[in-house]
Amino acid sequence: VAVVTGGSRGIGAATVSALRAAGATVIAVARPPFGDTPSGDVGIHRVGADVTEWSAVRDALGGAIERTGPVDILVNAAGIAGVRAPIWELDVEQMQSSIAVNLLAAFYTMKVVLPVMADRSQGVVVNIVSGAAHRPRAGRAMYGTAKSALEHLTQVAAAEVTEAGVRVYAFHPGQVDTELYRASRRSGAGLRELEAAQRSGELQQPVEPAAAIAFLASDDAVDVTDVVVPWRDRAYRDSLRSRADFIDRIESSR
Ligand SMILES: NC(=O)c1ccc[n+]([C@@H]2O[C@H](COP(=O)([O-])OP(=O)(O)OC[C@H]3O[C@@H](n4cnc5c(N)ncnc54)[C@H](OP(=O)(O)O)[C@@H]3O)[C@@H](O)[C@H]2O)c1
Repeated sequence: VAVVTGGSRGIGAATVSALRAAGATVIAVARPPFGDTPSGDVGIHRVGADVTEWSAVRDALGGAIERTGPVDILVNAAGIAGVRAPIWELDVEQMQSSIAVNLLAAFYTMKVVLPVMADRSQGVVVNIVSGAAHRPRAGRAMYGTAKSALEHLTQVAAAEVTEAGVRVYAFHPGQVDTELYRASRRSGAGLRELEAAQRSGELQQPVEPAAAIAFLASDDAVDVTDVVVPWRDRAYRDSLRSRADFIDRIESSR
């Protein structure tokens, strides 16, 4: 059983498909009205919840888990890029919303699933972080600050549950062609960055990081013991992709 937040589009939606193809029952979460339309697949439960609200996350996951049984895999893919502006031009509400979606949501979902995973001595958590966490550039307070804290939170979670047999990863996807990625790259320097990523082959489609996340969630990846997974680095991507168990898994899910 897998829970994927941000399951309505982008990397999250592709991860829902990849995990489903690998045989998981998937609880996909995004804001209402996402849960109102059935997925058309009995193995994919759509749940409408705003992950910035603790009570919504607790109740939505609790209700879904009653139907599916305990969670083996948690992927926190919900995220917002927010606006790029100096600190003094950011509204308080804008900064709060970034911290809520990009950081607190993962705290809420882990608060629900980690104790059960630790009790059962099994489980994998993948929190999607960002290279922005390591690039403190002007105008990027909203996104980078939250992602930097998410990476820290993920490392703390790993320190708390690794001995219990639960694997926790902070996954750096690299540049992925999604709504979030395009939103800040419609003109100027952003658009030039997008075009350069297309030219160099660095701009991935969501299925690519999703395949890696499904691999990390599998038993084949028990030897991946680093908490921070730099999929964004081409050399790392190539090394993971060249593993026979990675290729087998991806081929069999096609
Ligand atoms: N794309 C990239 O290049 C890139 C690079 C580094 C890191 N990332 C990270 O990868 C993750 C996925 O991003 P993406 O590029 O796939 O973005 P995306 O296509 O914009 O998808 C974002 C997802 O988050 C959901 N979401 C946003 N706010 C929510 C809320 N309050 N409650 C519930 N769900 C919410 C959205 O669903 P609804 O709007 O339907 O609620 C959507 O499913 C994010 O954490 C992002 O920061 C992406």
